[in-house]
Amino acid sequence: MPTATSWLTAAAATAIAAVAIVLIVWRTRRRRRRPGLPPGSFGWPLVGETLDFVSCAYSPHPESFVDKRRSLYGSSVFVSHLFGSATVVTADAEVSRAALQGEAARALVPWYPRSLTELMGNSSILLINGPLHRRLHGLVAAFFKSDHLKSQLTADMHRRLPAALAAAAQSSESPLLRVQHLAKSVVFEILVRGLIGLESGSEMQQLKQEFQEFIVGLMSLPIKLPGTRLYRSLQAKKRMARLIQRIIREKRAGRGAANLPPRAAIDVLISDGSDELTDELISDNMIDLMIPAEDSVPVLITLAVKFLSECPLALHQLEEENMQLKRQKTDKGETLQWTDYMSLSFTQHVITETLRLGNIIGGIMRKAVRDVELKGHLIPKGWCVFVYFRSVHLDDSLYDEPYKFNPWRWKEKDMSSGSFTPFGGGQRLCPGLDLARLEASIFLHHLVTSFRWVAEEDHIVNFPTVRLKRGMPIRVTKKINDD
Ligand code: HEM
Repeated sequence: MPTATSWLTAAAATAIAAVAIVLIVWRTRRRRRRPGLPPGSFGWPLVGETLDFVSCAYSPHPESFVDKRRSLYGSSVFVSHLFGSATVVTADAEVSRAALQGEAARALVPWYPRSLTELMGNSSILLINGPLHRRLHGLVAAFFKSDHLKSQLTADMHRRLPAALAAAAQSSESPLLRVQHLAKSVVFEILVRGLIGLESGSEMQQLKQEFQEFIVGLMSLPIKLPGTRLYRSLQAKKRMARLIQRIIREKRAGRGAANLPPRAAIDVLISDGSDELTDELISDNMIDLMIPAEDSVPVLITLAVKFLSECPLALHQLEEENMQLKRQKTDKGETLQWTDYMSLSFTQHVITETLRLGNIIGGIMRKAVRDVELKGHLIPKGWCVFVYFRSVHLDDSLYDEPYKFNPWRWKEKDMSSGSFTPFGGGQRLCPGLDLARLEASIFLHHLVTSFRWVAEEDHIVNFPTVRLKRGMPIRVTKKINDD
């Protein structure tokens, strides 16, 4: 009869043998390198280098993951193993550009963690490829670029923002305004109106609430059982989709009554008339488009306020530029148009520098559908490529004193060079980039022309998404007679 000790010994021996086999297979994989693969290591069995990546991502310097390997391998392009996939990481501007645009980019399809793909669904603009992607991207991008939407968005901001700022500023004797929260609540409603044409009211409130439930699941464990985070987020998405599909049916029923220009992105997709653009596809995509409305744009605004609070010279110049425009317009009895905001050169430099230093979207992942070569580096079929914008934006060979907030650098620097890609590039270049800049410009204009503030201490958190730990609290005082 085997004793308990001999069982344990046998079990331990089996476990050790299993671990040894895994290690041998892993090491063999590492040794049998295919020509053209960049240098690097897969790290530990199963987890690869994910733990180091995540621990760096939680630190104030997420790019330290790349920095360590760059100095170890002497290359900004290296092999790793992240989130369960063999990956080539690129922190090289030229290689990154090749991954985003050109022939090779066609064989690289978007890759996101499981929880995100579950929640976004198979027909999301962020995931689909080929002709349907090009059609959807083209329709959405054309509408987002339209003068009509930019004018509507500017008028909406004028209606809501001063009132929201004033209300927050009057809430107590020494009011503490959390920029991130205020920006979220203002920007969400305005962009949702631009997306689905919904006005403020009970349905907007319902959508806001459901969206809060939805968005927290984006970075959850990919388990879809009742009660799990992902399950609850999927349920919230279903309820939002029902509401939006009802709006689509109403719009379809009322179509033809008037040949009015589209008021919202949803109108453009409905009137396209293609069988591929089903109600379900349209509603799913409208929800996906709310993600930057709720997250990226408010974070851009909040980061700009943080960086300005730490750089009085830049704040002063921004204030001067905006006060001058305000006075000019008041003297002529005119209201500001979207073109006025976009023509403020220093304000635009502040936004550009915030995008560079803040790295709201640190990087993007793609998966190779066949063997791909990027500037001499092989990405084997089935591998991922991680295009890490953050390391490029903070590269001291491309930017002098890269950690310094220096909006003036953009007076000379060319934004269209491949070393500045906060909005991605190529066929998937963010179609909302002008809207993001416009909303940030209007927000900053109203804040600096009507208020003074003293910022409280706050910290940037970089993972899983960029945000301010305390929401960027500032103590505001209303300016008297625009002093
Ligand atoms: C500061 C704000 C924003 C940042 C930093 C940002 C960044 C990005 C980046 C890096 C991509 C490329 C993703 C990829 O290549 O896989 C992207 C794509 C996209 N963005 Fe934005 N974005 C912002 C605001 C917006 C806004 C306001 C909208 C619209 C409401 C928007 C809609 C989209 C869409 C639809 C795509 C997918 C394009 C495609 O795959 O065809 N974004 N964004």
